[in-house]
Amino acid sequence: MSLQIPHREKSNGAGGATKAVILVGGASRGTRFRPLSLDVPKPLFEVAGHPIIWHCLTAIGKVPSIQEVYLIGYYEESVFRDFIKDAATEFPNLAIKYLREYQALGTAGGLYHFRDAILKGRPEHIFVLNSDVCCSFPLNEMLQLAQEKDAEAVILGTRVSEEAATNFGCIVSDSHTRRVLHYVEKPESHISNLINCGVYLFSADVLFPSIRSAIKRRTDRPRLASYRSSDNLASSFMIDDDEENQKNEVIRLEQDILGDMADSKQFFVYETKDFWRQIKTAGSAIPANALYLQKALQSGSKDLAAPSANIIPPVYIHPSAQVHPTAKLGPNVSVGPRATIDAGARVKESIVLEDAEIKHDSCVLYSIIGWSSRVGAWARVEGTPMPVTSHNTSIIKNGVKVQAITILGKECAVGDEIRVQNCVCLPFKELKRDVANEVIM
Ligand code: GTP
Repeated sequence: MSLQIPHREKSNGAGGATKAVILVGGASRGTRFRPLSLDVPKPLFEVAGHPIIWHCLTAIGKVPSIQEVYLIGYYEESVFRDFIKDAATEFPNLAIKYLREYQALGTAGGLYHFRDAILKGRPEHIFVLNSDVCCSFPLNEMLQLAQEKDAEAVILGTRVSEEAATNFGCIVSDSHTRRVLHYVEKPESHISNLINCGVYLFSADVLFPSIRSAIKRRTDRPRLASYRSSDNLASSFMIDDDEENQKNEVIRLEQDILGDMADSKQFFVYETKDFWRQIKTAGSAIPANALYLQKALQSGSKDLAAPSANIIPPVYIHPSAQVHPTAKLGPNVSVGPRATIDAGARVKESIVLEDAEIKHDSCVLYSIIGWSSRVGAWARVEGTPMPVTSHNTSIIKNGVKVQAITILGKECAVGDEIRVQNCVCLPFKELKRDVANEVIM
């Protein structure tokens, strides 16, 4: 397979066309987001009143040189149809298209598969955003760094604690020039606490040839198979061709491309001092919700509920939700369409989804209340607060690892006066007794 990249005049750096890609994954991914991803694809889950990828689009919309955005994933075509229709009115300057991979091709494989579409119109730069991150997406700053340094690639980085760093892609950089010297995905031992935020800017001239080289390295490698035990020796050497071909097509930016770019390209890091979190587990929607709400508050967004004695900002209440004036909400609460919150209820650091009912005098803390779920009168549904700097969403309770956030899936019911603590409750469950530190299936 040979790649013909159309020749493009090099611009004077004053801002040639730029395109953006949001990697949305597919139905087989986002399993750690269960039970919420059982009912909605993770990229469309609402935090701070908007789907996760809406926050990415808002940042993309602020880059004047971007007119086209691709969502690349392997969900069914219909999944993003309504979202794209709504986004067309909200982001009139962006043409947004969904491109569907025929199977999971990996974070670089999908880009490569759709290279002709992406390169159409000869963009100079391409932003690639993982859809499962929550941050302020300083895209204009990354673009500016690329122009200052005449960079071929720029990665967004952030500092985390030493203990957390090895869970991420680690960047070793020259602190003076900001050049990336070394990149290792989830290293076995500590090399740096500057980590990959999953937001990149690539020169169009460099991205696709780099992926192509990685594919070539992969194909040239002899097909080695490891055997598990002497009795299945024969069968384990005979790898199924389809399975092997599929694996060969998976190319990941993190494992297959970035390390090589650090060795051979003009690769720079833009370090953000602003917030950054991954949205992997369902519980991580709570810090993401809080961070986006805080950002909306700082920017004076009209989306937020007006502060009052019973509204501690930031709070987002959908216009169709009904909140009793004696209910006390906030900080960091989002209430979805047609949800009802009755008299005397207390809701803090939580997401209440569409059509949920929070009955009078109940208490909802550090929790997600699923679509059409009901929390009974005087009930208490709560999780455990986590330090703001933590990238972890689980805690140890009685020697067992549990989610810090309590999550009720769709159409769950918590009886009157029942207490639910640090539980994950699958859809359609009815809780009639007190529960703590359990997954209710
Ligand atoms: P770990 O972080 O390594 O545990 O894996 P993960 O699957 O949770 O995330 P990964 O870093 O692989 O994915 C980063 C982003 O790319 C997420 O937004 C995924 O939805 C998306 N993604 C992952 N694999 C694919 C793929 O094969 N195709 C597309 N289009 N997107 C993908």
